[in-house]
Amino acid sequence: MPIPPAEKVGAIVPAAGRGERLPGPVGKQYRLLGGVPLIRHTLTRLAGGGRIGSIALALPPPAEAPPGLLDGLKVPVRVVEGGRTRQESVARGLAALPAGVEWVVVHDGARPLLPPELVEACLAGAQESGASIAALPVSDTVKRAREEGFAAETLSREGLWLAQTPQVARRDLLERAFEDASARGREGTDEAALLESIGVRVRLVPGAASNLKITTPEDLALAEAYLAHSAEEGERSPRGGSALIRVGMGFDVHRFEAGRRLVLGGVEVPFEKGLAGHSDADVLTHAICDALLGAAALGDIGLHFPDTDARYRGADSMELLRRVVALAAARGLRPHNVDAVVVAERPRLAPHVGEMRRRLAGALGLPEGAVSVKATTSERLGFTGRGEGIAAHAVCALREGPS
Ligand code: CTP
Ligand code: MG
Repeated sequence: MPIPPAEKVGAIVPAAGRGERLPGPVGKQYRLLGGVPLIRHTLTRLAGGGRIGSIALALPPPAEAPPGLLDGLKVPVRVVEGGRTRQESVARGLAALPAGVEWVVVHDGARPLLPPELVEACLAGAQESGASIAALPVSDTVKRAREEGFAAETLSREGLWLAQTPQVARRDLLERAFEDASARGREGTDEAALLESIGVRVRLVPGAASNLKITTPEDLALAEAYLAHSAEEGERSPRGGSALIRVGMGFDVHRFEAGRRLVLGGVEVPFEKGLAGHSDADVLTHAICDALLGAAALGDIGLHFPDTDARYRGADSMELLRRVVALAAARGLRPHNVDAVVVAERPRLAPHVGEMRRRLAGALGLPEGAVSVKATTSERLGFTGRGEGIAAHAVCALREGPS
């Protein structure tokens, strides 16, 4: 049977969990993977395969996607508020899918490295019985434990599979399975369990080891490794689509003012005067911010951090840089490298350049080798030459997330 056309296929992405096994400054769904929020990888891969026409995304209350998260996706996304359990979140997503959707693809938000072709394989696998799941045959030996952590017996792994997502089902079957589960107060850890219990045969489709569910910090490290590996493969392959680069430029000038600190690239440089400005007037970091914003076509630093806004008075420009990196990341873009020139007659900057590179690299999430800072005089010509102020030029490249 042919695969249904995309307009009849809707995806549900449960991403409303609390991520308790992966504690951190932000929820698991927003943790960065390759500099890009985890859930953005998941959505890009689901939306990019051409098999899905709409997505219902379950997020924790207040169920609002952070700015930029959904920009530029190839498929419309409807955000719904998740429930107390995964099953409840999926049920709410199901209710939010457009009326014309006849086939449902459920895929965990926490599985960011979905191979796009797996969606097609699962859709194909579901055509015979109305349902399918991606799963991996068990390859390790399986033990059943007794009390005190001792093995009681070794089970045959014959016929044992580990369930992943996507899990695909005909919409009417999935709705019936949910009604049955709620009538009987039954909670399943996946949709397939609910379908099985109303007698639906669920086809097992070979999944992928890289399609791992991010549960613990170790999983995040493993996913980074998979991502780096696939990016390298993409670069080697002439047809690889993973190395899309966007470049941007930035330029900034600040005048000298007595009685202020001189801050360049996050480093306080000892000098008889500093630069005037609303923030710490770190002209080098500002030029880099503008280069990043330019590469992402996101306007400029004045737009995001207006100097009329009291919140940015005396602001630490390295913090602004970190925010700019996050803005780009929300659009699936991460820094690849940065090069900058500071034009100053005095003071001599060479002794401080190493520390500037280290600090900038830290804020950019880049190795030091990807951040270059150079200093030059302007041969006593112009305003920099007369020692009236300092100028900085920067260029940067952003890489589109490998997903
Ligand atoms: N999920 C959901 N709604 C819930 C619970 C889970 O949408 N009430 C989603 C998670 O966001 C995740 C997927 O279901 O994408 C699989 O769940 P799991 O990996 O267990 O994620 P969390 O529940 O967030 O993590 P933890 O169990 O460690 O708290
Ligand atoms: Mg959970």
